[in-house]
Amino acid sequence: MNIAHRFFTVRTKPFTFLIKPLMLVIFSVGGVELALANAKNAAVAQAAPDEHVYSDASSNIMRRTIYAPDPKMDAFITRLISKMTLEEKLGQLNQLSGEGDITGPQSKTDYLEAIKAGRVGSMLNVFTVKYTQKLQRQAVEETRLGIPLLFGYDVIHGHRTIFPISLGEAASWDLQAIEKSARVAASEASAEGIHWTFAPMVDIARDPRWGRISEGAGEDPYLGSLIARARIKGFQGDDLSKPNTILATAKHFAVYGLAQAGRDYHTTDVSDVELWNTYLPPFKATVDAGVATFMTAFNDLNGVPATGNRYLLTDVLKQQWAFKGFVVSDYTAVNELVPHGFAANDKHAAELSLNAGLDMEMVGQLFLGHLKTLIQEGKVKESQVDAAVRRILEMKYRLGLFEDPYRYNNEKRQAREIYKPEYLEAARDVARKSIVLLKNKNRTLPLSKTTPTIAVIGPLADSRRDMLGSWHAAGNWDKPITLLEGIKAAVDPSVKVTYAKGASYDFFSKDESGFAEAIALAKEADVIVLGMGESGRMSGEARSRTSIDIPGNQQKLMRKLKKLGKPMVLVLMNGRPLSISWEDENIDAIVETWFAGTMGGNAIADVLFGDYNPSGKLPVTFPRNLGQVPIYYNMKNTGRPHVPNGEYTSHYLDAPNTPLYPFGYGLSYTQFRYSDIELDKTSINASGVLTASVTVTNTGDYDGKETVQLYIRDLVGSITRPVKELKGFQQIELKKGESKQVAFKITAHHLAFYRQDLTFGAEAGDFQLFIGGDSANVKSAHFSLGESIQY
Ligand code: BGC
Repeated sequence: MNIAHRFFTVRTKPFTFLIKPLMLVIFSVGGVELALANAKNAAVAQAAPDEHVYSDASSNIMRRTIYAPDPKMDAFITRLISKMTLEEKLGQLNQLSGEGDITGPQSKTDYLEAIKAGRVGSMLNVFTVKYTQKLQRQAVEETRLGIPLLFGYDVIHGHRTIFPISLGEAASWDLQAIEKSARVAASEASAEGIHWTFAPMVDIARDPRWGRISEGAGEDPYLGSLIARARIKGFQGDDLSKPNTILATAKHFAVYGLAQAGRDYHTTDVSDVELWNTYLPPFKATVDAGVATFMTAFNDLNGVPATGNRYLLTDVLKQQWAFKGFVVSDYTAVNELVPHGFAANDKHAAELSLNAGLDMEMVGQLFLGHLKTLIQEGKVKESQVDAAVRRILEMKYRLGLFEDPYRYNNEKRQAREIYKPEYLEAARDVARKSIVLLKNKNRTLPLSKTTPTIAVIGPLADSRRDMLGSWHAAGNWDKPITLLEGIKAAVDPSVKVTYAKGASYDFFSKDESGFAEAIALAKEADVIVLGMGESGRMSGEARSRTSIDIPGNQQKLMRKLKKLGKPMVLVLMNGRPLSISWEDENIDAIVETWFAGTMGGNAIADVLFGDYNPSGKLPVTFPRNLGQVPIYYNMKNTGRPHVPNGEYTSHYLDAPNTPLYPFGYGLSYTQFRYSDIELDKTSINASGVLTASVTVTNTGDYDGKETVQLYIRDLVGSITRPVKELKGFQQIELKKGESKQVAFKITAHHLAFYRQDLTFGAEAGDFQLFIGGDSANVKSAHFSLGESIQY
């Protein structure tokens, strides 16, 4: 169930002073309120000293179910480990790659031979019933102990049926839809023999140069935490032994998104308070949600590579957070401790990473090659190896693989599950919810389905492959519906839809040979729809850019088309925030569609022609230009906040401080009016609850959905605090003319943060509270917290 919905209390009492009937919806977040609302869970929700602001009782329930004590399992694994030779144990820690998507150096090992010799515990990049069954047979029938293999794959935003890229899904702010997407992905992937996905990526990212910003949930730790939890719920369900659930992975631990200059794999350096307040919360949320595995990051963090970082893997993850699953390295990340200059050689790298708390090694095979000698030399303890083996075997057991190693190998189920009509429908639904309307001058959109001639132009307008984005998993490239096809399918048969590729998205393309045709078609049209942006392979891993402009000669063509004076709609496809200041000034309507997946063309057409009123909100700030980066809504005020004409205040000479589109921003075909905020009190103590409410009215001509956002600012803190922090949101559907009152319950727990000494608590003082439709466009009110509290 959607976490947000769990906390809804709908009150029916009407508010007579409004013309339309009102519904009061109480929305609250965090464990403390739930404890108040539900005495049964009080013990769970009681904030423990190390409990984070984003923990809550419902996620703890997920964690307890998945990690329920199982004495039978414990006894089984103890017995099994006692029978294993050291070589067999090291085999369990070893993961090799099959022939799927390879994202790093390929191992030369013959994996079939290695499996037969008991030297492999897990395989990645393998799927289909036939393939996985063949490998499983080697492990189960040809090895001495018959321990089944674990099959992992990057099922990131869909398996066969591809959903929008993760950043796009995050723009839906719809936790139920996001959970559903992960559920569908797990159903398809498990039907093809996969037990484990390397998702969700929960790295907070604030630098659009970094191509992997497309794989996460954006810049905000609160939204990122809720989305992480929804995805885990979708992948893992609440019972891992069901054959349609798979293990999830929280990655990349940690701070991978802070790569300097946005260059992938680059160094990171972060203060403790920033680490704990911004980068770790989504990871902590995944532990609370019962995530099965963690993946280390490639980067170093404050000088220590994450894959050899004992503080992260053992002190924080396994001890402080009591994570019970296992940790896998990223692809050859153990070997990379050598070029990092942290390990002297491969053997040293194996020693450092096992001792740091790593359990399974992806592809590099250094554990296999060196741990035996390291144990003989006394540099590594066999008990540490046993502990890692136990964690891995436990997951195999919880999946039910010891009971039936072939339970995910059912040809009939595979045939039934792949590309099911209901999955395609779900993908279309999530895709349209992910679309963000950035601009709509003169109500250019929605378009009429009887517009006589529509010219569809651009390199992305009829490209199937790009529609899938960077992680297409097992999605067939010939399957996606393109924008052109979506438009053709949506309009009246009388409409003439013409198409020209026109321009190129290749970085350095000078080829203008398509311009003339595009211009000629545009001249004949009543409206021009541009399918432009980045190629699907310009974001994702190792896809950093030093410019975030629309690449190639696409803008050049747009400038020429602009001269025709026709209405123009830009349908953007991209995996990162782009700087589109020129487009914002010159194009009538702009729709951000990310890479919308298998059903992308239909979903985009649903929005363009008004069958779906856009409701997406940006999960990440869009800068005016790259020079503003890093730019994010929850920044600090500084000692010299900018004031107009204030020369020695924090500002730029050549651009405003404000972004082009702020975090949380997104238009609708209708308009929403917010009333002033009403507070039921202006002060609370450490155990108090404050209710803040606004009335939202749909004043436009369409029914629509609004995401009402709650932000809080701590005006004075023992460390400087962000100018705003998202603390809650609620999606409401409003018919035209309708009003609803939306209320948020706020407790001291919402105000807590990690201080300089890394204690977590709320500090007495004054706070500003904001409610609005995006992070910049808000109403505000003040309240105070009468006493400090440490959790
Ligand atoms: C990526 C991971 C991915 C792994 C396996 C690595 O290169 O960083 O995110 O899960 O490959 O494909």
